[in-house]
Amino acid sequence: MNLELNEEQELLRRTVREFAEAEVRPLARELDETGRFPLETFRKAAQLGLAGIPFPEEAGGAGFDHVAYAIAIEEISRACASTGVILSVQNSLFADPVYRYGTPEQKRQFLVPFTRGEKIGCYALTEPQAGSNAAALRTRAERRGDRYVVNGTKAWITNGGVADAAIVYVNTDASKGEKGITALLVEKGTPGFAVGKEEKKLGIHATACTELSFTDCEVPAANRLGEEGEGYKIALSTLDGGRIGIASQAVGIAQGAFEAALAYAREREAFGHPIADFQAIQFMLADMATEIDAARLLARRAAWKQDSGARFTREASIAKLFASEMATRVAHKAIQIHGGYGYSREYPVERAYRDARITEIYEGTSEIQRLVIAAWVLKSYS
Ligand code: CAA
Repeated sequence: MNLELNEEQELLRRTVREFAEAEVRPLARELDETGRFPLETFRKAAQLGLAGIPFPEEAGGAGFDHVAYAIAIEEISRACASTGVILSVQNSLFADPVYRYGTPEQKRQFLVPFTRGEKIGCYALTEPQAGSNAAALRTRAERRGDRYVVNGTKAWITNGGVADAAIVYVNTDASKGEKGITALLVEKGTPGFAVGKEEKKLGIHATACTELSFTDCEVPAANRLGEEGEGYKIALSTLDGGRIGIASQAVGIAQGAFEAALAYAREREAFGHPIADFQAIQFMLADMATEIDAARLLARRAAWKQDSGARFTREASIAKLFASEMATRVAHKAIQIHGGYGYSREYPVERAYRDARITEIYEGTSEIQRLVIAAWVLKSYS
């Protein structure tokens, strides 16, 4: 693994940073305050290839690797965590499984328009009563001729309120438990498919995070992704890539908070000095910089492993666990450095603190990441 970015990755990093400064950061506060989904920004990001970063051009993508994907999600999230996860879900949770499992016809309909950013996708696994225990999902799909009839409710679906299509994980054979789970591509507008309530959340307010409900919703059997019973594996392997996206989002949130704290420490005076002169502040800045660096390296290692074609479940979980908990610690210190102003909505670190917290929860809580890592530890060390 080369720790230096190659020319292409560095060029992408600079381009995305410029885009984020010009188009994403200026809206971040308003999006936080209103919860408006940033559709215009999504379309502009798509023009740069950010709706399909690691997919080849024939699949409508930008032709970069997954390291470049991690870099891009970090750079966007440094300016706005909502926009970061919207793009991460589009790439990792929607386009990736369609790319890996889709038939040519499914790719024409459900991949190319999405990687180009003409359409928005979402990933519907979680249910009101099934989060960490994803195998306990209750949404049912009964095969009738050339259709599946779907009934059930999905919850906490990022992009749910605006998505043109969803990958919906359903149970096609309740007697088989997780081996009865199947993935279906469901288009917006399909009768019986409705968007439910939007969640009112602590942070990442602009992600159109909603419930989705299915009532006798008829989905063509041709929209089944993979085989019947293959859905659980599709869901979990998809989350490996998603977790790199969330690790990168966490690194970006932390980097943004760190830079704000550094600037404030240089300008704010106390006891006749800029507070950056005091060791108490310097030590916090040093810890923040060290932890961000470590998390960034873990995220890029996981992405590099993904690019190598080998299984990267462990690396993705390690990166996600460390980066998400790191982001909460860094945002906490960023507020501390700002003192009372850090607690005010006038400064961006209060938003970073709220936005960081979700990275420890979605796409697998820290506890789930520890389970995945522990399984590997117990298998590998005798
Ligand atoms: N890649 C490929 N295959 C995998 C896999 C992976 N990463 N993980 C598991 N599998 C396979 C296993 O090999 C096994 O296959 P066999 O039966 O053929 O051997 C099968 O899948 C089941 O594996 P496990 O027995 O290990 O699975 P489990 O049921 O014990 O998994 C769990 C438990 C780790 C808790 C898992 O359910 C999990 O990750 N839960 C968390 C769910 C989650 O992250 N939800 C987030 C929702 S999405 C979200 O937040 C999106 C958003 O809006 C941003």
